[in-house]
Parts: sequence; C-alpha cells; structure tokens
Amino acid sequence: MERIGKGAEADIYLEDSTILKERIKKPYRIKELDLNLRKTRTKREARLISLARRAGVPTPFIRDVDNQKMTLEMSYIEGEQIKKIIEKFSEEKRYKIFKDIGILVGKLHSKDIIHGDLTTSNMILKNDKIYFIDFGLGEINNNIEAKGVDLLVFKKTLHATHHKYEKECFKAFLDGYTSEYKDHSEVINRLHIIERRGRYFTERF
Ligand SMILES: Nc1ncnc2c1ncn2[C@@H]1O[C@H](COP(=O)(O)OP(=O)(O)O)[C@@H](O)[C@H]1O
Ligand SMILES: [Mg+2]
Repeated sequence: MERIGKGAEADIYLEDSTILKERIKKPYRIKELDLNLRKTRTKREARLISLARRAGVPTPFIRDVDNQKMTLEMSYIEGEQIKKIIEKFSEEKRYKIFKDIGILVGKLHSKDIIHGDLTTSNMILKNDKIYFIDFGLGEINNNIEAKGVDLLVFKKTLHATHHKYEKECFKAFLDGYTSEYKDHSEVINRLHIIERRGRYFTERF
C-alpha cells in the first residue's frame, strides 16, 4: 500500500483503485476526546459523502467504514485537484468550472448539507466532472449562517490560493449557486454580513 498523502488529520493510502483514509492520533488532544473526534469524523464523513452523492454531487463511493481503526475505504478518483490546474485553464474554462462548483454547492445546500471545508484541494476534476471529497468537517444544518460560512471558506481559499482569479472565479461560482439554490440570496446576504463582522473584529482587536 502506498501512502499518497498526509493531511493535518489523516494519512491517505492508495492501493489498486481504493483510497484508505486513516484518521491519525493527535498527541496534543486528551486521549478520550481524540478518540471521540476521530470516530465521529470518520462516521460523519462516510455518511455525508453518501448523502452528497444522493443530492447529485459526484463523490467517491464508500466501500467500508471501520470505527475501530478510524478508517474509511473509498473509490479512488483519478483526476486532478482543481487547485493544481486552475492556472492551466482558459478564461472560458475557468468560468465553466467555477460555475459548476457553484451548482454543486447549491445542490448540497438545497439538501442542508454543509461541506465544512470547501477548498479547491477538496475538489477533483475527472473527465470534466467535479468530485467533492473530504467531508470530515461537514454536517447537516439548515441554518443560513452555516451555509454562509461554507461560502466564506471557499471565498477565502480563492483569495489565498488563486488571488489573480479570485473575483472572476467567485462570480462564476455565485452564478452557479444562484441558478441552483432557491435560498441563494439569503445565504449570499449573510456571507456579506459575516465578512463585515470579521472586518469589524479585525479592526478593533
Ligand atoms: N477518493 C479520493 N480519490 C482521489 N484522491 C483522494 C481521495 N481521497 C483523498 N484524496 C487525496 O488525498 C488528499 C487528502 O485527502 P482529504 O480527504 O482531503 O484529507 P485531509 O483531511 O487530510 O485534507 C486529497 O486532497 C486528495 O489529493
Ligand atoms: Mg482535504
């Protein structure tokens, strides 16, 4: 088995066409809490990945969940992280990709699925289809606030990693989101409120 990734929380192994995601111990966390968090996130991720697919969002297939070993087995999506290929796209292609991402997030939010870590590292392009992975920080939540925070995380990623294209990409994203999700304006308004709130805090403290 080949280790292909080491995230903040998990080791990722690849064998044949199967990904094994193993949530690793965090020595700085109290033991019981650590066990609990890893268990909850493993279970939650498996559940949300399946729910997301049912909502019409491409995700890996879950093959096995082991709550003792804190592992998740899923199909390997052999493609490229959006993060790594943005630079190669033409402007039209970029628009299309980010609009599609907006549509997919709209599908999640229509079903009250919060991804929790909407970054371009957690989206994989394969055969012109975008797959979402890494739902370990997600939840089911119908609050406008939770959905607004989901968008904020995405917007901040664009700012941090794709600064040059931030504006056009986020606009394309919102076009898709708006076309797919009926409560889009409430969430987008909330996003702006949260952003103002953030600025208020950084200015004062
Ligand atoms: N099912 C999968 N198919 C293809 N690559 C994957 C898959 N799951 C994880 N990866 C790769 O491993 C990396 C880390 O996995 P991820 O689930 O995002 O965990 P982390 O919480 O460490 O970010 C991803 O960014 C991706 O490159
Ligand atoms: Mg990730």
